[in-house]
Amino acid sequence: MRDDTPSRTAQWVAAARGLGMLLPSHVRLAEDPYGVAFSSPRIAKLLDDRSPRALASIPGLKTWIVYMQVRTRVLDDAVRAFVAGGGRQIVLLGAGFDCRALRLPDLANAQVFEVDHPATQGHKLATLEKLGVMSPAQYVTWDFETRPLDELPEALADAGHDPTVPTLTIWEGVTMYLTEAAIDASIRAITDYSPPGSQLAMTYFAKNRLRKPSLATRIVQAAVARVGEPWTWGWSPDELPDYLEERGWELMRDIAAADAARALLPANLASAIKAATDSRVALAVVPESIAIAQR
Ligand SMILES: C[S@@+](CC[C@H](N)C(=O)[O-])C[C@H]1O[C@@H](n2cnc3c(N)ncnc32)[C@H](O)[C@@H]1O
Repeated sequence: MRDDTPSRTAQWVAAARGLGMLLPSHVRLAEDPYGVAFSSPRIAKLLDDRSPRALASIPGLKTWIVYMQVRTRVLDDAVRAFVAGGGRQIVLLGAGFDCRALRLPDLANAQVFEVDHPATQGHKLATLEKLGVMSPAQYVTWDFETRPLDELPEALADAGHDPTVPTLTIWEGVTMYLTEAAIDASIRAITDYSPPGSQLAMTYFAKNRLRKPSLATRIVQAAVARVGEPWTWGWSPDELPDYLEERGWELMRDIAAADAARALLPANLASAIKAATDSRVALAVVPESIAIAQR
């Protein structure tokens, strides 16, 4: 991503989360009252100028909103389950404009650490200040491509993270923007600060999406490249269990966005993302046995 501007893709996903408000309330999967505030002036102007109904008619917007509803809900559910099981530490790696620390009452007794690029984090803090909102999150500034990630566990500890306490790391909408070296270093860092019982919830692209892109994918691919955030990385779902196991993690769940949509939404809405079979959410855990074997 560009060093001098906040992540544009983070603005787009935050806006799409916020625009979930355009859906009828009985089918909404997640509410993000803050999302739109982080968006580009262009989107904010669109919202000022046009009625929500007119906005909903913009081509592709419904797909984008439904996709973000599903992805947000699957990860919100992972957070809720982790906390219900006694989890108390959450790391948002590449947090962008994720406002889970503010949105989810379940996190009232948890500590949330947000790690992101200085340009994105700066925009987040300035926007929250403008809104007059104080997030309980702890902020850690990082450029994953240039600052050694083996220093991340110590930086988190300096911010109050306890590496002996299970942690849920949310790596949402980030893996597709990193190089293989940054992916590998990130997973090693996550493993270092994650004792047994810790979880990793991440979104990723199946390699196929990047190798044989559909027309829709090529259009978005061109847009993200234009703003300096090209898609670079994906895993093959077949390889993911072994990839994670070699690094101390056991894959618990790996679901395509299209399948999650079918499980969560009425058919007429779920069909908006029926092609999203290569956009996936994976949930992994550090099990006692593997952790003991490796440590
Ligand atoms: C598409 S956004 C997703 C943000 C957030 N997780 C969400 O889902 O709303 C990608 C995020 O990755 C971060 N990111 C991308 N490359 C980065 C890098 N080299 N160092 C630090 N953060 C990076 C961006 O700042 C941005 O917040």
